[in-house]
Amino acid sequence: MGRDVIVACDFSSKADVMTFLDKFVDVKPFVKIGMELFYAEGPEIVREIKKRGHKIFLDLKLHDIPNTVKKAMSVLSRLDVDMTNLHASGTVAMMEAAIEGLTRPDGTRPLLIAVTQLTSTSEERLKKDLLINETMENTVMHYASNAKISGLDGVVCSPLEAERVHNKCGKDFLTVTPGVRFAENDKGDQVRVMTPAEAKRIGSDYIVVGRPITAAEDPVAAYKRCVAEFVD
Ligand code: C5P
Repeated sequence: MGRDVIVACDFSSKADVMTFLDKFVDVKPFVKIGMELFYAEGPEIVREIKKRGHKIFLDLKLHDIPNTVKKAMSVLSRLDVDMTNLHASGTVAMMEAAIEGLTRPDGTRPLLIAVTQLTSTSEERLKKDLLINETMENTVMHYASNAKISGLDGVVCSPLEAERVHNKCGKDFLTVTPGVRFAENDKGDQVRVMTPAEAKRIGSDYIVVGRPITAAEDPVAAYKRCVAEFVD
């Protein structure tokens, strides 16, 4: 599996996402569809974007009892997405059930990756709200290793954690990293950021890039620049 740039299509309507994707004529980026668009437009939006030739990362972050997640994953596998995810905090039993549900009758399945701790959770909240008295780093690495044990393909993590995740879980365990900005870009609400070239250097497998592409004056040029820095 090669490195790739995933464009976060954080739009709230079909009209907006289609206007954006219409700009891409000679290239069909791997796109991420999140809760906002999926809850607004339903599964049909996934089928339509897939029909246009895009690979899809469906970012719904499932977290429920194993049986419910297994059944939900089975529905998602029939949507023919290429990658989807869940919360590692749902436990190894939940992650194993997810893999079972996601696997199609012919043995194929979309890539399944885990969210470890959300980057919006601070070490203070980890202790106070979740009663986890480990450091954030230990918690993230432990969750990543649970995901690996459960048979998942990788984790979503900060580009700054990608190297450590690879050291602990192996080179082939995928790291999907948001928080990417061009050197001259405004960071927006992201705090810890890396350029596509830096993410490549530290070994990210996929970068997830939203506003540097979706809000660019020329989104196609911005996407191609990401590919040139990260993939080529
Ligand atoms: O616009 P921007 O490049 O910041 O978008 C990054 C995308 O990655 C968004 O869809 C955001 O929800 C997602 N994401 C993130 N940080 C995480 C997990 C997901 O920014 N830790």
